[in-house]
Amino acid sequence: QALVQSSGENDMDWTFCGLWLHDLGSPQLDVNISPGCSNVSVSANRTTLSIHGQVTAQCRRFNGIQLDHYGLGHEKASNFCLYWEPALDRLILQVKQQNFSLCRSAHPEGSCCTDLSRSSIGPEVVHGIKKAMIRTDVISLETFSGYTFKGERVPCSEEHFCSFTVKTMSNERLCEYEEPTITVHLPPALKLAMRTTTKVAVTFHTNTTFFQVTFSTKILGEVVDITVENEIIADLSEPIRISFYHDAIQVWRSHRAWSRDCFTVDPVHVKWLAEGCVTSQRGVEHTECFCNHLTYFSVLVELQPRPVRHLMALTVITSLGCAASFISCVALIVFLCTKSRQSKEQSVPIHLGLALSLAVLHLLFFLTGVLANLGGEALCAWVGAGMHYSLLSSFTWMGIEIFHTFWLVYVVFTPSPKPYIWNLLGFGLPLIPVIILVAVGDVYGLREVFSADDLSNPYQMCWMKDSTKALLAHYVTNITSVFLLVSSGIVMLILVYRKIRIRDEWKQTQVAFLSIWGLSCLFGTFWGLTFFEFMSDLVLFFSCFLTSFQGFFIALRFYMLEWMRKRAASTLCSNSTGSTRQHMLQEKS
Ligand SMILES: *[C@@H]1O[C@H](CO)[C@@H](O)[C@H](O)[C@H]1NC(C)=O
Ligand SMILES: *[C@@H]1O[C@H](CO)[C@@H](O)[C@H](O)[C@H]1NC(C)=O
Ligand SMILES: *[C@@H]1O[C@H](CO)[C@@H](O)[C@H](O)[C@H]1NC(C)=O
Ligand SMILES: *[C@@H]1O[C@H](CO)[C@@H](O)[C@H](O)[C@H]1NC(C)=O
Repeated sequence: QALVQSSGENDMDWTFCGLWLHDLGSPQLDVNISPGCSNVSVSANRTTLSIHGQVTAQCRRFNGIQLDHYGLGHEKASNFCLYWEPALDRLILQVKQQNFSLCRSAHPEGSCCTDLSRSSIGPEVVHGIKKAMIRTDVISLETFSGYTFKGERVPCSEEHFCSFTVKTMSNERLCEYEEPTITVHLPPALKLAMRTTTKVAVTFHTNTTFFQVTFSTKILGEVVDITVENEIIADLSEPIRISFYHDAIQVWRSHRAWSRDCFTVDPVHVKWLAEGCVTSQRGVEHTECFCNHLTYFSVLVELQPRPVRHLMALTVITSLGCAASFISCVALIVFLCTKSRQSKEQSVPIHLGLALSLAVLHLLFFLTGVLANLGGEALCAWVGAGMHYSLLSSFTWMGIEIFHTFWLVYVVFTPSPKPYIWNLLGFGLPLIPVIILVAVGDVYGLREVFSADDLSNPYQMCWMKDSTKALLAHYVTNITSVFLLVSSGIVMLILVYRKIRIRDEWKQTQVAFLSIWGLSCLFGTFWGLTFFEFMSDLVLFFSCFLTSFQGFFIALRFYMLEWMRKRAASTLCSNSTGSTRQHMLQEKS
């Protein structure tokens, strides 16, 4: 049995040692340290050992120290070591077993100056630094006047420090007991399986950038590679046990679920595979893998599509709602077309535009499932693009409805823009993002929606694909539109309310007014809700219902307003101001 333990090696701390060849007499120390991160130099001549530089976070020190009190004056050479602990901002010089704390502990904030690398060496001299060493590596056996090292800033915090530093120099305990990152337990069965050698090589890879990971997977923590030279070990009777202590999973794409599993590398195809290991999740930061062969191992997080609860019921509601909405919108279009021939009312083309875009949206939404199963990839992409276009067009028309009402109330004396301008805006503007996305490519296409009840049989639809690019497009176009629609709706609602509240026709018009604004805002909100996937079942059903019956409600609202207008007209026609009120009402609807 063997137990291999590895903990992150502390690379931040730095030690420089050497033998200072000096004169008899009165050697001294020359210190000039200031905050910064450029370079630090250690140089020596026959009288002085100098430490100059800018590597500290806060420490500033500038003085000379006489060393003859410390017994250096009687000898011609002294061993010295300089210890630099950037995470503690501590610099200690040890000369002849005597410690000089040049910089006492402090807490650096945010970054540390570390990775000190040699940038220059002084000339070879008689009195200087001999046998210079960095940590335990000898740089040179000759004597040089000095060495300069260049530092580099790296992020560091107490957490960083705690997870990477093994304390060696002081008794201070900043961190609690540190867990090893990976422990490997090799079973006796392995020894029996090895034929030629008895050596097992275990390599820990902290830098995992080399190991290619796909879009939907991510390596959690480190990679460990266990091999036996020239042998392939597989099908062990007793598994190798590897414990990974890693960070808790960052929810970096929260709209999808994730799974945490042990993976191994298939060395032939250089691919991560989930086979050959059994995963045991011991805690959010601890995963244990039981594997029956030797290769590279790691814990990978795999993103998986988030299953939708009650998908069947939601699909039925959506289909019914879309059918009802489509029929209502078509009826509304027919009604508006006959009406527009009779009257020159400004708002008719706007209602018509909204009804038309909603009709197309609901029709495509109704058919998207069927088309996804029947048509090929290309057709699906076009259906997805069409659906996106009609959705954006509906948003634009809702915005126009809101803006039009605002215009009628605020800009009373200027006639509102001509219908062709509205058409250009409502049908033309949404074309721009859709054309751009089609040109970019790989945005529209087949999208699978997984049911929580049956993961193996996803519901297919044509919409935006499930990729980073498409997700970005969704945020930039849809979420932004909903946000603009709802926020501008609320602002204009308040402005219009303030203006018309004091007019005497307010009482008659308020119902109509509120119904328009309220509904416009509500629709925007429900589309918005549909996009946010953290919803309780009730909200999910509610928003699904309202979204799919949207066209139906818009038509219903329209007929109610027509009815109210007729009633108002008949009760007010005897009044002297009746015609003005009627005008206001007409424009408001
Ligand atoms: C040390 O750093 C300073 C400031 O960055 C630079 O001017 C100087 O040349 C450096 N010295 C050496 C020896 O690299
Ligand atoms: C030794 O170096 C110090 C500072 O680096 C300097 O002040 C002193 O003059 C030097 N001494 C000799 C003998 O070169
Ligand atoms: C001097 O400091 C070093 C490093 O912190 C430590 O290992 C050593 O024990 C100290 N020596 C004395 C005499 O305090
Ligand atoms: C990890 O290795 C890659 C090259 O394989 C390198 O580009 C990257 O800088 C390394 N990262 C760290 C943190 O060392």
